[in-house]
Amino acid sequence: MNTIEVINLKKDFSIGKESISVLKEISFNIQKEDFVSIMGPSGCGKSTLLYILGGLDKPTDGVIKVNGKDLNKLSEKQKSIMKRREMGFVFQFYNLVPNLSVEDNILLPIILDKKGLKKYKKKLDDILDIIELNNKRKNTPRELSGGQQQRVAIARALVFEPEIILADEPIGNLDSKTGTEIMKLFKEINKEFKTTIVQVTHSEESAYYGNKIIRLKDGVILREEVVKESIRL
Ligand SMILES: Nc1ncnc2c1ncn2[C@@H]1O[C@H](COP(=O)(O)OP(=O)(O)OP(=O)(O)O)[C@@H](O)[C@H]1O
Ligand SMILES: [Mg+2]
Repeated sequence: MNTIEVINLKKDFSIGKESISVLKEISFNIQKEDFVSIMGPSGCGKSTLLYILGGLDKPTDGVIKVNGKDLNKLSEKQKSIMKRREMGFVFQFYNLVPNLSVEDNILLPIILDKKGLKKYKKKLDDILDIIELNNKRKNTPRELSGGQQQRVAIARALVFEPEIILADEPIGNLDSKTGTEIMKLFKEINKEFKTTIVQVTHSEESAYYGNKIIRLKDGVILREEVVKESIRL
């Protein structure tokens, strides 16, 4: 079974009386453990596509299945449970809560899900080790560098051990050295936990950390590329 299946996806936006067709007849599949990079010019609909995959926006037409479940057929409640537990989101500008500590930012999905925090103590320690920020656990985001903040955001996305991570330009705001560190972290997560990763990126180099590249242009898939030699750790 495909982890994500997209069939004839269309997305129009209306601005005033005009309607623009951003995505037209997009179809593709993503398998478990794939690390897919979505690329294309600014405004071609990459973020729109990613948000639709994550159930954060609705398509105008077409079907999205996640682990065989048609997103459109789930109730709002089922969808929000799936978003929280099966998918982790990472954004360009980290989206951390400024006055919460690193720890609390990471545990936020658990707090919001009203889960017992105690059970997650060990998990939190493990995650802090993975992102190498154990020594900053009591600090707040403004005391961290951009790369460190993004690592916290990735940790927050990992807390429920999601099967899928969706990342929108996760290194778009970082210098190239820090960006490389973040890409290596994604790759490690992909290999170690077999997490399926879908990232949007403008960087050719970062795209090659994955095993598949989807190139969009003018609302259609220009080309799907299988990466033969992806960047190793
Ligand atoms: N909520 C909205 N209402 C109207 N138009 C929108 C909306 N969201 C996106 N658009 C339009 O859809 C098009 C695609 O936007 P999108 O953000 O998906 O592009 P992108 O490929 O992610 O671009 P970038 O690389 O600059 O982030 C743009 O023309 C944008 O103006
Ligand atoms: Mg975008």
